[in-house]
Amino acid sequence: MSSDNIEKAYSKENRELCLSGKGVTKVFGFGNRKTLAVDNVDFEFYTGDLISIVGESGSGKTTLIKMLLGLTSVTDGKIFFMGKERDIRTRQKKKEYWKGIQAIFQDPFSSYNIFNKIDSVLLDCIHMRGGRRLKKKEKIEMMREACSFVNLKFDEMTNKYPFELSGGQMQRLMIARIFLLRPKILLADEPTSMIDACSRATILDMLLKLRDEIGMMIIFITHDMGLAYYVSDTVYIMEKGKFVEYGSADEVVLNPKAEYTKQLLNDVPKIHDPWEFSRNRREVTAPD
Ligand SMILES: Nc1ncnc2c1ncn2[C@@H]1O[C@H](COP(=O)(O)OP(=O)(O)OP(=O)(O)O)[C@@H](O)[C@H]1O
Ligand SMILES: [Mg+2]
Repeated sequence: MSSDNIEKAYSKENRELCLSGKGVTKVFGFGNRKTLAVDNVDFEFYTGDLISIVGESGSGKTTLIKMLLGLTSVTDGKIFFMGKERDIRTRQKKKEYWKGIQAIFQDPFSSYNIFNKIDSVLLDCIHMRGGRRLKKKEKIEMMREACSFVNLKFDEMTNKYPFELSGGQMQRLMIARIFLLRPKILLADEPTSMIDACSRATILDMLLKLRDEIGMMIIFITHDMGLAYYVSDTVYIMEKGKFVEYGSADEVVLNPKAEYTKQLLNDVPKIHDPWEFSRNRREVTAPD
């Protein structure tokens, strides 16, 4: 997408509501073993936006993502996809829904069927997009292009199983799938937390490039406020199942209103300050 087109796509008048929710709630368990994981949240996510949801462990981020994807049932509330109330009551409707919304999870090893070789993982994506009747040569060309987008060599991938790849390579394969599937929405649940810093930067860059190329909306889940500020247009802060604050990344990070947001920001290391490490790690202090 050219920078003009990007500006147009992100301008308020042109923004298309692609995913929204009203009173979305998830309760696990019953009686005194009940957990209110997501508590009556409302949200409006627009095409082309990169939204981060930030919150500490157990705040309900993954549960919300799983509800959005249709992997976990919604206890209460409604989810709207492309302006209409979502209907995923049958297997067929769910499959149709997943053409528009896809996810990458924290642990890439859990995302693949271990019996499927890499080429069949990619081939499935082509078939899902209606390419079953394409010639073998065309399919291989598409898979080659997807691999090259994520800097993987297709010829080295064929006949391998996903578990024969490194964590970083697996996450890149996940992105190659997204490249082929071209969903409207990508849910990325801490996709970089299990890989080293160098691969992390590459994965993030690839996601941003993909967003610009296909105008996809990304919901990025993270604990890391610094990362959220760096990558997102909009930031939602989640505490104990609720959104306590949301707004543009600048508004939320530079002018936080909720106490919880301020607390999360205090936990971000200040990279430009010199650090003094005392013997007790809890007493690490940055000089004024
Ligand atoms: N299948 C489940 N059954 C019962 N409780 C669950 C289930 N899944 C999540 N929970 C509970 O729901 C709450 C929210 O969990 P969730 O995994 O959504 O948090 P999270 O924000 O993704 O945390 P993290 O940052 O550690 O991944 C937690 O209290 C968790 O114990
Ligand atoms: Mg989680």
